Amino acid sequence: MARDNIRNFCIIAHIDHGKSTLSDRILELTDSVDKRTMEDQILDDMELERERGITIKARAVTMRYHADDGKEYEFNLIDTPGHVDFAYEVSRSLAACEGAVLVVDASQGVEAQTLANCYMAIDHNLEVVPILNKIDLPSADPDAAAKEVEDVIGLPCMDAPRVSAKLGENIRAVLERVVRDVPPPQGDPDAPLKALIFDSIYDSYKGVIVYVRVFEGTVKPGDTIRLMSTGAQFQLVEVGHMGATSLTPCDKLEAGEVGYLTASIKTVRDTRVGDTVTLASNPTAEALPGYRTVTPMVFCGIYPADGADYPDLKDALEKLQLNDASLSFEPETSAALGFGFRCGFLGLLHMEIITERLEREFDLDLITTTPGVQYRITLTDGTVEIIDNPSAYPDPARIAKQEEPFVNAHIYTPNEYVGPLMDLCQTKRGIMIDMKYLDETRVDLHYQLPLGEIVYDFFDAIKSRSRGYASYDYEWEDWHESKLVKLDFLLNGDLVDALSLIVFADNAYAKGRRICEKLKENIPRALFEIPVQAAVGGKVIARETVKAMRKDVLAKCYGGDITRKKKLLEKQKEGKKKMRQLGTVNLPSEAFTAILKLD
Ligand code: GTP
Repeated sequence: MARDNIRNFCIIAHIDHGKSTLSDRILELTDSVDKRTMEDQILDDMELERERGITIKARAVTMRYHADDGKEYEFNLIDTPGHVDFAYEVSRSLAACEGAVLVVDASQGVEAQTLANCYMAIDHNLEVVPILNKIDLPSADPDAAAKEVEDVIGLPCMDAPRVSAKLGENIRAVLERVVRDVPPPQGDPDAPLKALIFDSIYDSYKGVIVYVRVFEGTVKPGDTIRLMSTGAQFQLVEVGHMGATSLTPCDKLEAGEVGYLTASIKTVRDTRVGDTVTLASNPTAEALPGYRTVTPMVFCGIYPADGADYPDLKDALEKLQLNDASLSFEPETSAALGFGFRCGFLGLLHMEIITERLEREFDLDLITTTPGVQYRITLTDGTVEIIDNPSAYPDPARIAKQEEPFVNAHIYTPNEYVGPLMDLCQTKRGIMIDMKYLDETRVDLHYQLPLGEIVYDFFDAIKSRSRGYASYDYEWEDWHESKLVKLDFLLNGDLVDALSLIVFADNAYAKGRRICEKLKENIPRALFEIPVQAAVGGKVIARETVKAMRKDVLAKCYGGDITRKKKLLEKQKEGKKKMRQLGTVNLPSEAFTAILKLD
């Protein structure tokens, strides 16, 4: 396809404004899918994704469109995930496009993510094409929404296509706009190859399928490619385009095109998102900008509730890792929980997604321990250890220096929320670096923050303090010296290693007390009193008591209905199943997650 007839774009929107519905209509209109075989929403087809309403993995689809000018166009629609954990993947997907269709719900107007996503697209130099959706709704006011887009974002919008993605009305107008307004890709097909990896998936027949955007040069089957970050080389077996439901091989991919490569690559770890692919025989001198290695930031222990499931858990983690280069795991043991794995994730959402997938797709019952970050500890004999597991925390007498990871965080917010957001950063021990006005109303707050303070609920806290309008992004900064202690918990006098945490010393007391309270709420009563204690270095700093049980679950059922009794007993049995016998005390798996949600 001639480069002038190619359009590479993504769709951006506030949540629920109709991004997925519009994608489906575009696929239908370009005959990219057979209606009968079309699932509800092809672009995010993982069950979990649908429920959470977020797109987890970037995908791309190539379509053919016959435009009103009589020419045929090749459209590459690239899907983007929407959470800060995957911010890097989003940035690489945007880097693969020339334009973005901005969907605005005509009954809602501009909302937080409309702005945040739109600025992200503009930052990547994309041409933004606004469209107004949901015009079928009685409450839709496209004129008002268009005016808002013009006033708030400064994007001409009065003649934006007005569509109903749900009813399939006026979708052609959107595609005509893409043809007219999104610039065709540039690039020289005869230059040395430069292709950007923006996603890769594992397929059991073809090996890793690498999704690329070719910026310069040409690539074809038989070529030996080189990945510039590692120097690894592979001989290409196939190149082609991604359809909505299948892959279509072709004889070459040229500058400007989006497509896939296969080369019997065994693991997605070899094909890192953001890396540049070039040819071994005629390599480019310079890689594409923006590559960074993505390393796990958050670590936690994952244990099977039933020890016999350990081999199944191992299998399941290996399967998930085939498709997820950012997931890491290694075996660990805990006195309380037995055999399990120490796993590393990009962030908390990533962790939740993986644990949910383990539970649903592999039918495993799991216990996850409190997530934490890595610390760098220098011992008095000069050795340096990096630990991500509280159980590896050395004897404090042997510690000479402790450091914790800090990140550079940029919070983009309308200026009226600057006050509350600065307060928040302050409570998280943030160091303010600077504050820039991006325009009259928008501010970039730059803070250095301890990673350990922001992994849990920082994203949610930012959203709630800015009514959803602020967005943020962070990257690794450096190690900072810190005062840390290991906080232990004892149930009925026994140390439960799986509950231990490494915390900032000044916060130990408050944290210990709050966690004891949470544990108290989550530990079912036994026939005896259970003391719940927090301790630092053997010294108890907080205590709660779970009172002894006085009545059984049937106490309230005076005589009568047997089904009701059965139900109560069934419920109790269910609850017991989830528990883990820890010495003398039952610790339900919810207790581990409950202590995460402290505020
Ligand atoms: P996320 O994937 O959660 O970000 O949402 P999305 O932006 O992809 O929105 P999605 O396409 O899932 O649509 C959200 C809801 O709006 C669904 O219930 C759609 O049926 C509905 N919807 C989408 N387009 C239209 C439209 O044109 N008219 C009406 N009435 N409803 C629409």
